[in-house]
Amino acid sequence: MRISVIGCGYLGAVHAAAMADLGHDVVAIDVDAAKIGLLAAGTTPFFEPGLPDILSSSLASGRLVFTTDISQAAGCAVHFIAVGTPQSVGSNAADMRFVDAAVTALIPHLSDGDLVVGKSTVPVGTAARLREMIAASGSHAELAWNPEFLREGHAVNDTLAPDRLVYGLAAGARREESLAALNAVYATAISAGTPVVVTDLATSELVKIAANAFLATKISFINAMSEITDAVGANVTELADAIGYDARIGRRFLNAGVGFGGGCLPKDIRAFVARAEELGLGQSVAFLTEVDAINQRQRTRVIDMVRGVAASVDVDVATARIAVLGLAFKPLSDDVRDSPALEVATRLSALGADVIAFDPEANGPAHVRFPDLVTAETAEHALTGADVVVVATEWAEFIELDPVWVAGLVRHRAVVDARNALDAAAWRAAGFTFVGMGRP
Ligand code: UDX
Repeated sequence: MRISVIGCGYLGAVHAAAMADLGHDVVAIDVDAAKIGLLAAGTTPFFEPGLPDILSSSLASGRLVFTTDISQAAGCAVHFIAVGTPQSVGSNAADMRFVDAAVTALIPHLSDGDLVVGKSTVPVGTAARLREMIAASGSHAELAWNPEFLREGHAVNDTLAPDRLVYGLAAGARREESLAALNAVYATAISAGTPVVVTDLATSELVKIAANAFLATKISFINAMSEITDAVGANVTELADAIGYDARIGRRFLNAGVGFGGGCLPKDIRAFVARAEELGLGQSVAFLTEVDAINQRQRTRVIDMVRGVAASVDVDVATARIAVLGLAFKPLSDDVRDSPALEVATRLSALGADVIAFDPEANGPAHVRFPDLVTAETAEHALTGADVVVVATEWAEFIELDPVWVAGLVRHRAVVDARNALDAAAWRAAGFTFVGMGRP
């Protein structure tokens, strides 16, 4: 099938390469010429395991082309809209300018019978609005919604082998045709047994936002519990293990720590609240404001822990040398959007601390946002002479650090495990003052 993908960010670039990998002919389009230049040359503009492989094989096969020319979408049967919906400047609502611009630019190149498929995370009601926009233009193309659930760091596998497919389809004469087109796009995953949930347009938009709201709530729930366990000397990791055995609860996404960040969860819950308020339903999701507040509080909590642990080794945080290990919002990503780790590093710097940070992939992106942030080329360099060590992103190389080796590098033995990822007993045995999030 001939497919266009409009938007070549984390979502679109992976989707385009994955669709070509599945055997489709794909034209991937973005307004950012620099990004298109990189992708066309087989270089990924961001770190995503597995993407370089399917990108280069798809380019070599001739099934994947990149362009800034939207007219190249003409002749494709299915057009995926995969542009960003960031938080608006000055409000919590999603900024819909990129989605609207993409659809507006695409309309003149649509043919009758084409299917436009939204993948971006959007406020409920957007799909119906865009469908009307297409119809009002005189085009006989149809619109469907097919939310994407990929996680950064696992995006290729999540796209090739998703745990479910959701199709939002409008009622009407072309519903069956749209269903057949989407089934053809995803034939490989469907034949491997991936469940397909078919809904109306609004439900499909809500599925995505509800999934992210639920995941964010789970993380803030366990972080709230960790505030309690901290206060009473209990252990949040054991608590999570114990409640997680209940299949109704489940252990995943119950890791307490410095909280969630990235390009999705934080802005999606805010946009959901903003949209619900527009609909006069603010009360229904008011709890998400508290989920957000709990999440933000964890960053301050980590700063307070650093202050406390520094004092325990007779160092003032304002003069301490602090090694911050991790800047990305999570491991296996170089994304620093709304990253708790990056915020901790920059807030410690603002307090006067001599911060030296290291991330295996995100030093560069962190510098783009904070050019004054001091970063090290290796963890060893960051750790050398440190008064306090903060593990802010749970990269495997930090979890595997030998505390005895680290003890030989640092000036004072003090560590804050902001991801509850380290072996507390081993670090204490190596002489460290060890502080975790809600566990002894
Ligand atoms: C998320 C959704 O998981 C994905 O389905 C959606 O398509 C996009 O948003 P992503 O942003 O890639 O994906 O990251 P995710 O793996 O969900 O992690 C989000 C944040 O939560 C990270 O900062 C992570 O460190 C944090 N987290 C996750 C916790 O603090 N504790 C946990 O137990 C799990």
